[in-house]
Amino acid sequence: MTELESGRVPVRHIVAVEVDGDEYVVWRGASGELGSAPRWCPHLDSDLTEGTVVGDDLVCTAHGWSFDCRGHAFKRTEAGRVDPKDDIDTVRIVEAGGRIALSR
Ligand code: FES
Repeated sequence: MTELESGRVPVRHIVAVEVDGDEYVVWRGASGELGSAPRWCPHLDSDLTEGTVVGDDLVCTAHGWSFDCRGHAFKRTEAGRVDPKDDIDTVRIVEAGGRIALSR
């Protein structure tokens, strides 16, 4: 398990974390919801700490794959079509008392 202070993940910020020896990112969406994903994009391994948060989704800036807070990956085309991708590995997130607990 990994713990960090809630203040380390403000809205629209992405933080790299290690949970049980594996690398992940955690982000906080516009609604305040927290999401997680493997640190390295499942498409072509870009560092997702360099992504952007759009709404509650993390978007990889390399080729536009997006990740919601429930472990779903997708790509939104320029025409607005949403193409689902395989689900991703996530960590369990519990936030209470100003702390975020991450576990697998
Ligand atoms: S490497 Fe992330 S979308 Fe291509």
